Amino acid sequence: MELTFGHILRIIAFFALSGFAYGLGYFLSAQKYKRQHQSTKNYHNALMQINERMVKVSDPSRLARMIAQNIQHHIQANHVGILIKEFNKDCYVFRASQGIDQIPPGLIKIDQSRPFIQWFEARIRKDNDNQNVDQKEPTFLTFSEVHLWLEQRLRSKRDPEKILQVMTIYEEMKRFQAAIAIPCYYQHKCLAILLIGEKSTGAAYDRDDLEQLVALSYGYAIAVHNAELISSLRDSNDQLKKRIQEVESLQTQERVNMRQMVLALAESVEAKDEYTGGHVDTVTQIGIGLGKRVYQKKGIDFSQQKKELLLTALRLHDVGKIGVPDHILKKPGKLDPKEWEIMRDHVNIAARILAPLKDFRDAAYIVQHHHESWDGSGYPHRLKGEEIPLEVRIITLVDAYHAMVSDRTYRKGISIQEAIKRIKAASGIQFDPEIVNIFLEMLKESVQEQVA
Ligand SMILES: [Fe+2]
Ligand SMILES: [Fe+2]
Repeated sequence: MELTFGHILRIIAFFALSGFAYGLGYFLSAQKYKRQHQSTKNYHNALMQINERMVKVSDPSRLARMIAQNIQHHIQANHVGILIKEFNKDCYVFRASQGIDQIPPGLIKIDQSRPFIQWFEARIRKDNDNQNVDQKEPTFLTFSEVHLWLEQRLRSKRDPEKILQVMTIYEEMKRFQAAIAIPCYYQHKCLAILLIGEKSTGAAYDRDDLEQLVALSYGYAIAVHNAELISSLRDSNDQLKKRIQEVESLQTQERVNMRQMVLALAESVEAKDEYTGGHVDTVTQIGIGLGKRVYQKKGIDFSQQKKELLLTALRLHDVGKIGVPDHILKKPGKLDPKEWEIMRDHVNIAARILAPLKDFRDAAYIVQHHHESWDGSGYPHRLKGEEIPLEVRIITLVDAYHAMVSDRTYRKGISIQEAIKRIKAASGIQFDPEIVNIFLEMLKESVQEQVA
């Protein structure tokens, strides 16, 4: 056959068109690859970002909402839900729901013994027992797979129990609108199950999707595990704090009880001796007034703590008399040396009662020395001058003054004027002269007020 110009033109046109079609095809498939590659990359980056954000959230439910939102957004699934295993319980609760037909969180609770959960538990156990990585089966479950099993089982009509189990799994996946169910497990324990619905585009999930979602499920399991750890640490911390508060409150109550008991003891001393009745109250009242002036004159802050200490020591100064026999305490006459020795021991008895009690330790020292004298001739330790604590010097003077003006079993009380004379005479011997001056000044003011 002769090759005409028309033939040559047709051949050229054929090659030109073929080349164009090939080029166009190549261009289109390259674009498609580029788009796919780009979308996989974006998708991968998005999931990586979720993984990073998960580390910062320590509440499992908040974490679940965040994950469901992100998966739903990036995969464009109709619905994404998450079942979370309740901490230290044998059930799973539906905690997050995103997309169409949302399920209210907390509404659905399923027991660990349900076939749907048991399927994952069995698969995780099997996966764990199988050391050969190549033979490991995927742990996720797809709705189409369950559908197929159900059809096969129903066709075979064997093992009704198995049929019922598959039917339950089928119904549960339908209830959760799940096209895929992916367990999130950590250290062979299933901590949650991701329930992902159909894509809104209607497209099927490809291998890439599943790999990314499984990778995300691992990250989520670790985050849930960490969140549970933090929450359990917080709980133990809260319990510890509560226990400390209980102990502190018991200690406070015990201290209040102890204080009341000791004060009751001091009152019972007064009740023992009818002649000393009202002595403690009067001494306490005058002692606090004198204490305020003494501290003021010396330029020392009469703080609440100092006031409390002086008050306690004043109220308890004779508490040791509880250990003095009544025949000595109430003797209607002067005491003999032996009896005086027993009487003088009331300061040491008081110290033995008060010193073991933490709240009365400082007061115990003051009470024990309230019969010391400025010149060192007192008892029990013959302390001298400023060796004697200031509180003691105040109490010693007030106690002696009130003893002088009060009636005793063996004598009548002396007048205030006579008492003033005796105090002046004992200034620098029994009493601190500076405190005597302040006391006399106070007494003078008080008498003037009474006269006025
Ligand atoms: Fe005394
Ligand atoms: Fe006294």
